[in-house]
Amino acid sequence: MSRIDRLRRLLGGLAYGGDYNPEQWPEEVHAEDVKLMREAEVNLVSLGIFSWAAVQPEPGRFEFAWLDRIMDMLADGGVRACLATMTASPPPWLSALHPEVLPERADGTRLWPGARQHYCPSSPVYREHAARLVRAVAGRYGGHPALALWHVGNEFGCHVRACYCDVSAEAFRRWLRDRYGDVGTLNDAWSTAFWSQRYASFEEVLPPRTAPTFPNPAQQVDFARFGSEEILACYLAEKAILDEVTPEVPATTNFVPLARTLDLFAWAPHLDVVSYDSYPDPHDPLAAPRAAMSYDVMRSLRGGQPFLLMEQAPGAVNWRARNAPKPRGVMRLWSWQAVAHGADAVMFFQWRQSRGGAEKYHSAMVPHGGAATRGFQEVRALGRELADRPGLAGARAPRADVAIVLDWQSWWGLEQEARPNADLRLDELLFSHYLPLYQDNVACDVVRPGDDLSGYRLVVVPNLYMVGGHDAANLERYVEGGGTLLMSFFSGIADPCDRVHLGGYPAPFRRMLGLRVEEFWPPARDAGVALSAEPGEVWPEGLAGHGSLWAEEIVPEGAATVASFAEGELAGLPAVTRHAFGRGAAWYLGTLPDPGTMRKLLRHVGREAGVRPVLPGLPDGVQARARRSADGTLWYVLLNHSAEEADVALPEPMRDDLTGADPLDRLRLAPRGVALLRPAG
Ligand code: GAL
Repeated sequence: MSRIDRLRRLLGGLAYGGDYNPEQWPEEVHAEDVKLMREAEVNLVSLGIFSWAAVQPEPGRFEFAWLDRIMDMLADGGVRACLATMTASPPPWLSALHPEVLPERADGTRLWPGARQHYCPSSPVYREHAARLVRAVAGRYGGHPALALWHVGNEFGCHVRACYCDVSAEAFRRWLRDRYGDVGTLNDAWSTAFWSQRYASFEEVLPPRTAPTFPNPAQQVDFARFGSEEILACYLAEKAILDEVTPEVPATTNFVPLARTLDLFAWAPHLDVVSYDSYPDPHDPLAAPRAAMSYDVMRSLRGGQPFLLMEQAPGAVNWRARNAPKPRGVMRLWSWQAVAHGADAVMFFQWRQSRGGAEKYHSAMVPHGGAATRGFQEVRALGRELADRPGLAGARAPRADVAIVLDWQSWWGLEQEARPNADLRLDELLFSHYLPLYQDNVACDVVRPGDDLSGYRLVVVPNLYMVGGHDAANLERYVEGGGTLLMSFFSGIADPCDRVHLGGYPAPFRRMLGLRVEEFWPPARDAGVALSAEPGEVWPEGLAGHGSLWAEEIVPEGAATVASFAEGELAGLPAVTRHAFGRGAAWYLGTLPDPGTMRKLLRHVGREAGVRPVLPGLPDGVQARARRSADGTLWYVLLNHSAEEADVALPEPMRDDLTGADPLDRLRLAPRGVALLRPAG
């Protein structure tokens, strides 16, 4: 039996629970914890994430008795543990004995203990102590009946994205030696002929520390690669011990809300299951589509395998400037949204709201006010609802019609200074392309540019700045073979060493796009550029929209103009083009169209490519996603994100598993309401 099958069998359905920090509470509270966990149908808790100081109060002494009691108590109560390796926050004695484990910022500032994650990922001292701890924990609890899953570290790279200390510098040099072999190759890759940066030996190379002006961009991209791999090495060192001591127990680590720090496609093969921490902001009107996009990334990292929503807030967080609670019903709605997108776990930070410490104003499953609060009532109701639907666990999303391309390496290249526009943010750009698909209930997978694209009807490529020959050829082949592709500006500009592809922008895609770009004309901050098009096939009523962030001079070489810039230096020149190429078509955006224009455009392109929504004709604000269980049952989760009741017409009679009502072909969904539908036939 695979590790994941074993986990699924142990849990018997979707996982439900949260971070459990019993060391913050006296023993009498623990008994109440298990009682309330049972009431809320909690079947999994993430235990011991910040327990290093509690289990190893001194370098040579482990203190496991308290944790033995907790593990036994959980086992007796039928609650499983996602037990942490406890390495996320070293105890004060470690940095007191070895100050060199503390990380340094690019400007040389040392990050002191007193919060968490205060370690240099390259520190051999940190790694050695972490390994000793992991071995002790795994040895102690590897055979414990409560143990279901290992939780390695916590949110790697969350606070310390990179360390610039001397130890890291040495590790970076080793990494560069491995990558380039000799210093001449490094000089070439980093274009060091520029600004007299030529290195005579690897010894002279440093991390991109704070410099008088822009540090070398290729060095920055390599440092980001190194950083992601170096932090991965910390994870792998712990994972190797777990694999050795408990070969049958799966391991995971929780990824932070979508960020550029770690190349998650490179990480994902090393996890048995992907875990994700999701913190949409209740004040943000676009919180639901933003969360949807990140869930699609998580589900896609391991080829559609269900992921675990390891953390979300039951109500408010405490780390934004204004921390809004989730209005009534929103916690349930957003939890079901994660399930709709492929989550096999609905977990929270945290079980019991802390009394002291930096997170005491962060909501929890059991709030300061206890079990009588609205918070706990909603937690308990959702726990029961999920526990009654074990068949959803393991169900996979059917393959989407649309793939959206995300490449972390290119992200590192794109978001630097000294660019035509230094305000480009890939996550926002990605979202601008994702939102219209979401609004039209089109499901979407997330892929790398080099992945197999053959099954997709449409591939969307937002701003793929840095691209290598293999990946570019893959995208071109996809279109040539009959695919429809939509690419946005500033794609295919640089190679993986951030050197411009010569031969006219964007050299690797010119043939496919049927154009060349002469010059970049980003508008002023907060200014836009008007767009227009005559009524026609793409814009039946004509187009009067606007673009922002970017404009450029496009010279068509076979591509047809679909919309033009309507003002300024570029007036009358193409802004959006389409090129019939091979058996397919390549669309190109030379600006970021406003959301309305983007939606019209993607709708048209999608129709041309034969893209279908998950369910047709849903009212605005109602989202649908599908999952198919191993037994072939197709489930539709319907989510009403609006504040109005929604009247939904279904394409065939379906049964709502949540109400148990007779099969219907129409459904009224309450504001923030959820339905779990199965075709009745
Ligand atoms: C996460 C972290 C948790 C807790 C939570 C609060 O980043 O993993 O330990 O701090 O945020 O939102």
